[in-house]
Amino acid sequence: MPGQAIKSRPNKSGNSASGEQYLPEHLAFEMARVVEEAAIAAARTMGQGDRPGSDHAAVQAMRRAFEDVPIAGNIVIGEGERDEAPMLFIGEEVGRGGFEVDIAVDPVEGTNLVANGLPNSIAVMAISERGGLLHAPDSYMKKLAVGPKAAPYVHIDAPVRENLEAVANALEKPLGDVCVVILDRPRHADLIKEVRDAGARIKLISDGDVDACIATAIETTGIHVAMGTGGAPEGVLAAAAIKCLGGNFMGRLEPRNKEEADRAIAMGFGNLDRVLSIDDLVKSDSVIFCATGITDGDLVRGVRFFGNHARTHSILVHANGTVRFIESVHRLGARPSR
Ligand code: FBP
Repeated sequence: MPGQAIKSRPNKSGNSASGEQYLPEHLAFEMARVVEEAAIAAARTMGQGDRPGSDHAAVQAMRRAFEDVPIAGNIVIGEGERDEAPMLFIGEEVGRGGFEVDIAVDPVEGTNLVANGLPNSIAVMAISERGGLLHAPDSYMKKLAVGPKAAPYVHIDAPVRENLEAVANALEKPLGDVCVVILDRPRHADLIKEVRDAGARIKLISDGDVDACIATAIETTGIHVAMGTGGAPEGVLAAAAIKCLGGNFMGRLEPRNKEEADRAIAMGFGNLDRVLSIDDLVKSDSVIFCATGITDGDLVRGVRFFGNHARTHSILVHANGTVRFIESVHRLGARPSR
């Protein structure tokens, strides 16, 4: 349950007499440093039109930053399989030893956004006790995300209008004030029409549905619902933050082809049609989520460079219900990754 104390497995450093312990809050700050480094590196490439270059810079910076972090981390969602990604591949062990955690990363969520200097790109990570994050296949996922007030009243299988009415009721707003974020893709033409017909407002985004889904659970963003189909790994990342924030996220795998479907089955997804609840996606209550803005966005501001410094803005969400927005100033050159 969101808001409860988080409990983790005993770690190799064995600093728990009882054999059980909580993932400490200071780990959130350690993880923030990792996403900050990735964001700074990616921000340097903003607008260069170089998607692989942006990604590579962030991956390298993130990988280096992990070396100082007191965790024995296992990447469960990363840059791909070992044979296709040189760093942050699935199964890679990162950290200098300590708390045993599983890690989901996306060093650049919204690569196109960075390459084109557009809003809402973030460097993002979630950690949990081992086994706490779903190993999502590199496939599509149908998603529905809402904040805490609407959380109990929506379902991914309910008609769009019904869900939107439920959100409007829960938020005590006219339906016409409800704002739905949808990725601007041809596959969403019917969904967009249904939302318009229901009378809700829409914010179409070109990329970056992690940011959009999490924004539903933070009141000040003015975003109330995220709907549509995007990456499955991104779904797990968003669900980690939303679970800590007390919102709701539901998903269903939507493989694009037979190869993706076979792969998902080989990974243990027996029934691809199954609705994945937030607890299926994030099994553990022991979660920390953090993201740093690369470009300005709904959740966090982007990186600013000035003089010999960079200023970053991050969100840190801890399963104990604490949300921190952190602004940090980094002296460039003080660490090898900068
Ligand atoms: P990348 O950062 O990997 O480019 O992903 C961006 C993104 O927009 C995600 O936020 C979203 O889940 C997914 O791509 C949507 O995929 P597609 O562009 O194939 O519709």
